[in-house]
Amino acid sequence: MSEQRWQARLWQDARAALPDHVWRFVTAGARDEISLQESLEAWSHVRLYPRVLRDVRRPDAATALLGLPVPSPVAIAPTSMQRLAHPGGELAMAQAAAEAGSLVVVSSNAGTRFEELGTTGAAWWLQAYATADRSLVAPVFEEAARAGARAIVLTVDTPVPGTKYDIDEAAFGDLTEVYGLNHPQVVRGRTPGAEHAQDLTAADIAWLHDLTGLPIVVKGVLRADDAQRCVEAGAAGVWVSNHGGRQLDRSVSTCAALPAVGAAVSGQAEVYVDGGIRSGLDVLTALALGADGVFCGRTPYLALAAGGAERVVEMLDLLHDELLDALRMSGCARLQDARGLASSGTPEPPTGL
Ligand SMILES: Cc1cc2nc3c(=O)[nH]c(=O)nc-3n(C[C@H](O)[C@H](O)[C@H](O)COP(=O)(O)O)c2cc1C
Repeated sequence: MSEQRWQARLWQDARAALPDHVWRFVTAGARDEISLQESLEAWSHVRLYPRVLRDVRRPDAATALLGLPVPSPVAIAPTSMQRLAHPGGELAMAQAAAEAGSLVVVSSNAGTRFEELGTTGAAWWLQAYATADRSLVAPVFEEAARAGARAIVLTVDTPVPGTKYDIDEAAFGDLTEVYGLNHPQVVRGRTPGAEHAQDLTAADIAWLHDLTGLPIVVKGVLRADDAQRCVEAGAAGVWVSNHGGRQLDRSVSTCAALPAVGAAVSGQAEVYVDGGIRSGLDVLTALALGADGVFCGRTPYLALAAGGAERVVEMLDLLHDELLDALRMSGCARLQDARGLASSGTPEPPTGL
């Protein structure tokens, strides 16, 4: 199968499987979708300087994410309402992660109970939205920690949900079993203080760590100075993300933001990236620009819609194969060798080539 074709087929199959309103919900970006488009395209504008004369018979894509050994740096980003994609929802996604030996980040708005996720054997992190009244969500995060979450991913780019056009809200109907099953008191009934926090500070990182005893990853960072503040506040990971172009439109692409964040905190915290990662070449490019781990949001969601857990495993396998191919052709035996592939290593662009 040729590179990229499987993605096109996956999107076609998901389109056929999903009702119009869910397809639009998943594929939409905020406002004019400028960040959505740019995040996709930006990876393909980076140019690589492959290494040669290296032994690449057995490239190894294995790594560790906060101490968790994984066969590939590609993991599953949090996406809400997975039960709209497939009846198995978050459970099926976790089953796929378990089968692939991958890591899955579960949305705090999941329609599956945390304790059920543990039964899959998957390694999972909880994605957390803090509420204006922190005491409303504290028990939810404590419950996730008890149920086996290995880290908390605090999403910090969503003081309000980004405006997306042409979302047919009426078509979603009753979401009781699909959305917010772990904290109905927060998502239903307009509880005062249950709206997203608009006063998050670095102190919330320490608060979450003290509450759960888990490492904290901060998701939605696009600036080196913010990344440094996260690390100073004790974050174990910084996740470069613009929410798949779903929050502030015209925010910089993650590909463009990644190098400065990596340079600021690499060695002090793990650096992750998401947004428009669709191929093994995108993954290699992200590693070259400083990422330790790479997350995909829409691709696993659409794979779940197109063929349940099995299709998600297939998608992860295809990305893995493409990454191995890209590592070989760029002269990288290990992931660390990819660091710096995107610059020539000389102060000036090479001449006379
Ligand atoms: C349908 C959908 C739902 C999402 N839900 C959440 C969420 O609940 N929490 C969160 O932090 N990010 C959420 N995201 C953002 C993803 O975690 C991720 O940042 C983004 O999808 C990455 O871009 P990609 O889809 O191009 O891979 C969602 C994205 C989509 C497409």
